[in-house]
Amino acid sequence: AADARIESLIARMTVEEKAGQLSLYGPADIDTPNNPQAGWRNGQQETADVRAGRLTGLFNNAGLEGKRRLQQIAVRESRLGIPLIFGADVIHGFRTIFPMPLAEASSWEPALAERTTRAAAVEATADGFRWTFAPMVDIARDARWGRGLEGVGEDPYLARQFAAARVRGFQGSNLSNADSMLATPKHFAAYGAAEGGLDYNSSDISERTLREVYLPPFRAAIDAGALSVMSGFNEIAGIPSTANPALLTGVLRDEWKFKGFVVSDFTADEELIEHGYAANGREAAKMAFMAGTDVSMQSGLYMRHLPDLVASGEVPMARLDEAVRRVLHVKQKLGLFDDPFRNLDGPPAAQRAENPEFIALAREDARRSIVMLKNEAKLLPLPKAGTKIALIGPFSEGTKDLMGSWSLFPGQSAPVGIDEGLRAALGPDSYVTIARGSNVESPLPGGIEAAVAAARDADVVVLAIGESQKMSGESRSRSDIGLPQPQQDLAEAVAATGKPVVVLLSNGRAMALKGAVRNARAILVTWFLGVQTGHAIADVVFGDFNPSGRLPVSFPQTAGQVPYYYAHKRTGRPSPEGAPGTSFKTRYVDATNEALYPFGFGIGYAPVRYDSVELSEDRMGMGDTLRVRATVTNTGMREAEEVVQLYLSERAASVTRPVRELKGFQKVRIEPGASKVVEFTLAASDMAFIGRDMKPVVEPGEFDLWVAPSAASGIRKRFVLTRE
Ligand code: IFM
Repeated sequence: AADARIESLIARMTVEEKAGQLSLYGPADIDTPNNPQAGWRNGQQETADVRAGRLTGLFNNAGLEGKRRLQQIAVRESRLGIPLIFGADVIHGFRTIFPMPLAEASSWEPALAERTTRAAAVEATADGFRWTFAPMVDIARDARWGRGLEGVGEDPYLARQFAAARVRGFQGSNLSNADSMLATPKHFAAYGAAEGGLDYNSSDISERTLREVYLPPFRAAIDAGALSVMSGFNEIAGIPSTANPALLTGVLRDEWKFKGFVVSDFTADEELIEHGYAANGREAAKMAFMAGTDVSMQSGLYMRHLPDLVASGEVPMARLDEAVRRVLHVKQKLGLFDDPFRNLDGPPAAQRAENPEFIALAREDARRSIVMLKNEAKLLPLPKAGTKIALIGPFSEGTKDLMGSWSLFPGQSAPVGIDEGLRAALGPDSYVTIARGSNVESPLPGGIEAAVAAARDADVVVLAIGESQKMSGESRSRSDIGLPQPQQDLAEAVAATGKPVVVLLSNGRAMALKGAVRNARAILVTWFLGVQTGHAIADVVFGDFNPSGRLPVSFPQTAGQVPYYYAHKRTGRPSPEGAPGTSFKTRYVDATNEALYPFGFGIGYAPVRYDSVELSEDRMGMGDTLRVRATVTNTGMREAEEVVQLYLSERAASVTRPVRELKGFQKVRIEPGASKVVEFTLAASDMAFIGRDMKPVVEPGEFDLWVAPSAASGIRKRFVLTRE
């Protein structure tokens, strides 16, 4: 009956109404970067468009009242009464802002991401949004790229787990539930492979890299049930993603059997002209649409040109119907036809009570997102009593920068700053002096002198430094991934006092650390932690929580090593580790190849020792499974949480393989002094790669296997995969 309803609608729709179902817009006053005229609409036009069935929905239009009014017009006044869909960039929370996705990935706990996306969906659907433009599943291996913090980092295996978990969280058990949100893995595809890490830039990667590295997280998201996909702004090897039939139809439809719809990124169809791929808007609409982009975001090109393209026969009516069918099918699945007002009748966001469970979850999520890189001579945790703390740096007070990008909706819960968090943990007798010392990117007159005085008067310096909210995110690529010079100057001056320094690094990317920051006695990577930042940091600094985060991106030694990632190839002249100065090897003359802090790395307050690794066999056939048993011991005085990681590499294959690839991980709790056996099971399919014919293949051969606390260490074993 549902399908009959959709088919009957399609049979009755005019070509204009069909084009309308494929046209999506932001709020009326939104900026349209390349062509201010293209997307410019006003409130009056919006109402008229809805009444005439010229749009399928709106996005990022906060508030219930406006949505309710437009839905009423769509359902009661438009000719066919097709309900609107309201979408939003719900990236890391709606009212309760959670850590940025890259931060949350540091937890290595996909189940946690499932819970936070569920919470985000509950809050966003209460504001009438049933569609999110998330999760972003772009692999980011170049730290200069500004949008890495919206994703999961450099590794496809880790990204797959988070992609699936986030889709499950947003969509819930059934898309028709009132608090379910349609998920949109984005940006299809290889947007993160932008050359030079420059946002919107071209990428030119091989099909193998595309298939091995960039596509798997999309596949995982779709397998988890995502029913929309957003196409990327970028081109790959000369073909813009938004008009790439091999990607949008070949991979998505023919290979993966994707049943949902593809939405373009913001004016990405119109940008085909700037790419030098389409001569004009009409051609751009045709190319994007025929390649498989079903819905046009913001440009209005489909509304403007599809009717004529159908009339001229350049776009078959069958393709138009197919795209409309996909959109209506999803609206149907969301229950919009059955009850278009279901999410629009509640109280306005400002009148709704904050959910204490979500706030508690935000704190838990934030402290699990913190990665401790260094803790010389056990400087941390700091004792709560009797320590004079100088909290120094541009992030010591204030909260705006701690939220990260995409915290855009009104009515958010009040964030907790670092100063507030430390003071709350210490109670009324706390001794914390605060000195800003520097602005984020510019010197603060007299700031360094005041900071040095505060440091001299304290027992320990907590240095809250890093990147502002505006230094990462969309269109926030950086050519230099170091700390801005004024903050570096501040760090040097404070360190020169000789007081022990704990660095709290607020950041949206892997950074190149140097001087006093790199040499600080303790370093905590705190990313952008959201609404509970201050409390989460205090929990770790004072030891109420034992940090258990691990890096989802490698921290290079110098910015010049970027793009830097652990799963690189060997080359014909690999550089021997720890042998600087060896010539005619794959290395820089002024740096070794090792990371400063590798992917997967992070320490806690209780050290964990890797004792042994046993394999069930040292030879396995194609149909066999290999069991891996690793014993790890907590040698510390308190409970530890360890992320035990499994890596593989085939020594020789018909296509060269990375030095290591993550194939599994488990986060385990270990009591003080206790040992734990962690088991993994591997099948031949875990050893697959993209062969010469661009299809997955498993080849017999000799493998190295590591069970490791990071991508740069661990216990190595060898096994052979045999042909039978
Ligand atoms: O969803 C985003 C996308 O990630 C970047 N461009 C704008 C879209 C809608 O806000």
